[in-house]
Order: sequence, then C-alpha cells, then structure tokens
Amino acid sequence: MAKPIIAFVTGGYSSEDVISYKSAINIEKFIDREKYEVYRIDITPQSWFHKTPEGAVVPVDKHDFSLRINDQRIRFDAVFIGIHGTPGEDGKLQGYLDMMGLPYTSCDVTSSAITFNKRYTVAVAGASGYHVARSKHLFKHSFNKNSLSQLGLRLPVFVKPNNGGSSIGMSKVHRSEELESAIEKAFLEDDQVLVEEYIQGREFTIGVYRSKGKSVTLPFTEIISENDFFDFEAKYQGKSSEVTPAECTDVMTKQIQEAAKGIYDVFNCRGVVRMDFIYSPIDNAPYLLEINTIPGQTAASIIPQQVAAAGMELGEFYTLLIEEALSHKKKD
Ligand SMILES: Nc1ncnc2c1ncn2[C@@H]1O[C@H](COP(=O)(O)OP(=O)(O)O)[C@@H](O)[C@H]1O
Ligand SMILES: [Mg+2]
Repeated sequence: MAKPIIAFVTGGYSSEDVISYKSAINIEKFIDREKYEVYRIDITPQSWFHKTPEGAVVPVDKHDFSLRINDQRIRFDAVFIGIHGTPGEDGKLQGYLDMMGLPYTSCDVTSSAITFNKRYTVAVAGASGYHVARSKHLFKHSFNKNSLSQLGLRLPVFVKPNNGGSSIGMSKVHRSEELESAIEKAFLEDDQVLVEEYIQGREFTIGVYRSKGKSVTLPFTEIISENDFFDFEAKYQGKSSEVTPAECTDVMTKQIQEAAKGIYDVFNCRGVVRMDFIYSPIDNAPYLLEINTIPGQTAASIIPQQVAAAGMELGEFYTLLIEEALSHKKKD
C-alpha cells in the first residue's frame, strides 16, 4: 500500500519563526519516513515553498495546497503543523486547510484562535468551572489611564501582552505606581493587554494529546525559576530548572492531570498542547495560566522531555499525532 503523503509545515510570519525552525530540526529528524512520505513546506511572508533534495525551489499551489514536481502533482493526505505564532498557531492556517479539505495535527480554527488569546482562554476555562486568576482585559483604543485605580485587582499583578508568547513585554507589578508604565510596555507588543492577579504557588506545565479519540496526559514538569517568574531569561537563558516528572503527592498529580484533560476536552483540542498551571497551596487547586497549541519541539523543549518520561520515542509520538490527523481525513 502506498504510504500516506504528509506535508510538514514550518516557518511562519512572526518573530517566533526562529523557534519554528529549531523545532523543525527535531521534527524532521524523528518523523517516521518508513511510514510516511514527507515533504517539508516553508510558509513565509514572501512565499510558500518546498525545496527538493536537488535544491529546486517549488512553490505551493495555493488553490489546493499541492506541489508540482517534475510534471507530477503531489497532493497531501494530512498536514503536520510546526509553526509557532501566526499563521500556524492562531487558527488562520487551520481555516485555510479546512477550506482545502485537508486534515492537520493541531487544534481546529476556533480552539486555536481562542487559545491564542490569553484572556479568552481563561474566560472559557473559568466559565467551565476551572480555577483561573482574576483579570482585566485592556484594549489600546479604549485604554484610559484614569481608570487604573478602578481595576479592582489585588497586587501584585502580571501585565502581559494578550497574544504574546515567550514572556516578552511582560512585567510583574508590585506597586500601583508601576502599573501604568508596565501597561505601556505591554501595549508596545500588542493592542490588547491582560492584567492578571498573581497566583502564588509551584508552577507546572503539562502536555496533553488525543489518540484514538481519547485525551491522554504526558508526565508533567515542574518549572523552578531562579528569577522572580518564568521570564525570557529563565526560559531561554538557562535561569530555570525543569523537573520531569514533577515530584508531587498523588492527590496533586491527579488534580493537575484531571484539570488538564478536562480543559483539553472543554476546548475540543486536537494534537498535542501544553498547559501552564500554578498550583495554589491556599485552596489546593491548579490555576490555568495559558494553553500553547503548538508547543516547542526542539531538543531542549518540554514536550520531547515529557514524551521521553512516558517511555515513548519521539518518532512514535509523532506517528500517533499523524494517525489521529489522518483519521479526520474526508473520504475521497
Ligand atoms: N497570574 C500569574 N501568577 C503567577 N505567575 C504567573 C502568572 N502569569 C504569568 N506568570 C508567570 O509568568 C510566566 C509566563 O506567563 P505565561 O502566561 O505562561 O506567558 P508566556 O509563556 O506566553 O510568555 C509563567 O510561566 C509564570 O511563571
Ligand atoms: Mg507560558
């Protein structure tokens, strides 16, 4: 039987393309070429293209997301999405692929778009009964400094660009005098800002995926930051340590796994996602911070570590994701 033909897409239109290309190294190394015929496609603002082993650059035919190589038309059975940031993580590419009738390895349009917006994520999770921090959503076009005293939030707070990632433009604010400049800094990154109460506690991050119709959690990780929070330096310059699997009581472990699985189902997720939680010792509950629907796949990233802790090869794990996508393929 012919192997399924998979497009692996990388790149992207945002500054996170750097991380996409780092993830691509690992994905290309581990994706199972015995099982699948794989074509890498770079999606960049300038062009969408495939580079053949001979070095020819072949543009993607955007009418049906196909390639024409040596007079042969190549159509895909599924798309493996490895793009961090827009358009691979915010639902745009998912919408296009839906219109082309192609299944893919990530969340659908709606789940991707909502989870790309931190405030809408916690709003939906909160409305479904999960613990989230109290917060306010500010928009650049209607932001009014005079209303800062009426935010109604308890200090300290986190001020975050609402759609951002990698902790860029984010601040932890301890005193009300610092609030305005922190909000202005976040507005430099995004037209929407989230001001969120600080949740004291241990930080955990957990991978969840769907296989054969069931959501499954990976062994989760505790993030221990040397800095005040898991900021850019802690994330990318080694100022943190990660313990996988995290050392927790059985009760805590179960609570975090159940929250993660429940939230995955509430958002109707697909593919592998990673959720960040703070476990509050005050009410003994995990608080959801955010959901990453295209988590990093670099050699140093958390998901590959969690997959290893689950006793799986990364290649086997990618096969599970691809098979799940293929099961959504429309019958020809
Ligand atoms: N409400 C909060 N309470 C406690 N810590 C927080 C809170 N919000 C963010 N943090 C800290 O800041 C880090 C980055 O925040 P997060 O919302 O995950 O954004 P991103 O990872 O996209 O930059 C978290 O990993 C955590 O260390
Ligand atoms: Mg995070």
